[in-house]
Amino acid sequence: MRWSLALAQFVAVLVMWIGGASGLQPWEWCPCTSPDMCIPLPADHQFQVEVIVFDHGGTDYQHYDWSKITVVVLDDRFSKEILCTAHANNVRILMKGTSIPQSLVSKHNRQIWINRNLGFVKTLHMDGIFLELRDIIKHGTTDKESLTHLINETTKAFHHAIAGSQIIINVPWSPHCRDARCYDYAGIARSCDFLFVMSFDMQSQMWNECFAKANAPYGHTYSGLSAYINLGIDSRKLVMGVPWYGYDYPCKHFIEPGRCKLEPVPVQGAPCSSEVAKQIPYKEVMEQLPKSLTGRYWDDNYKSPYYVYKANNIYHEVWYDDPESISLKSTIMKKLKLGGIGVWFGAGLNYSFSPKAAMQTEDMWNALCPVRKKWTVGTI
Ligand SMILES: *[C@@H]1O[C@H](CO)[C@@H](O)[C@H](O)[C@H]1NC(C)=O
Ligand SMILES: *[C@@H]1O[C@H](CO)[C@@H](O)[C@H](O)[C@H]1NC(C)=O
Repeated sequence: MRWSLALAQFVAVLVMWIGGASGLQPWEWCPCTSPDMCIPLPADHQFQVEVIVFDHGGTDYQHYDWSKITVVVLDDRFSKEILCTAHANNVRILMKGTSIPQSLVSKHNRQIWINRNLGFVKTLHMDGIFLELRDIIKHGTTDKESLTHLINETTKAFHHAIAGSQIIINVPWSPHCRDARCYDYAGIARSCDFLFVMSFDMQSQMWNECFAKANAPYGHTYSGLSAYINLGIDSRKLVMGVPWYGYDYPCKHFIEPGRCKLEPVPVQGAPCSSEVAKQIPYKEVMEQLPKSLTGRYWDDNYKSPYYVYKANNIYHEVWYDDPESISLKSTIMKKLKLGGIGVWFGAGLNYSFSPKAAMQTEDMWNALCPVRKKWTVGTI
């Protein structure tokens, strides 16, 4: 939680500076060239489909396709440049919630946490907050009800203080009860604006065969999202996450392309896991692919591409997502009438000025949008 500390210190310094030097109230401070850029998007500014991008810092945001994005979630640190750019493009900007208190059972604790986070978001002119379900679970001793209460109370406080603000919670690719713990996903969904379904990292537990497999198979993506809808969750509350990265598996025994046997690494009872693999961003995949032994292969079962390369006498199989697999997945958004799509994470693409990289990057942005037209803004 280093980031939260950095943010807290930033806000503290900011407030002292404003208070001491200028006589301004914290929320009167605006770092952008125009004061308009410090105004969160109003409540009547809604998009037919949300396109959420997770930003991990750096300057890549300058090259994002802002015509497609509706929400940026900051992970690492606050940057006034990205705040001003987002608002100048009519895009909401959310911060990640800070450390969850130890106990959420007490309403008093929840209220302190909410006020603190609301204070940050207001002072920094942002449009809401993003919460990692696993952070809440890991850091706060909690139970099903207090978790739902926290989210419900957070949403109420934010919507009241910042009309048009959003509360987004991330959830696993399917509402399974792993670790013998189930959550009231339907209650959580009712209490926030969107559930960001992480439709990736699906091989963290492999139960049957110990072979390299796709990060985000089409079938799992579809069935995981459908399972949320079957819980009674309004499909418009679900945002499908797609990965802009792949997995590089070292093969313990390489039989043929698509049959890369792995070193067994048990994870929570499952004999094998993608933990033996290294995650690599799409931009590295595209650098490596032309040098591979096989070139791009397509697995029709998973509807995902992969390739094989050899390094230091070890075969590696790399499973990833590309414009073809992502545009197939983005049709799910229409089929299941989802609220949107989101990418994990914006820096996965190569934003250098070389024409080849620029074309690959543009194709990835376009794949998010099954109908080639700009997302329309309207009032609902
Ligand atoms: C929060 O809970 C209250 C009472 O339990 C309920 O009426 C309300 O609809 C909930 N709010 C949201 C945003 O879900
Ligand atoms: C981005 O693309 C350029 C040009 O094709 C290449 O030289 C560079 O290595 C790429 N960057 C990454 C991180 O792959």
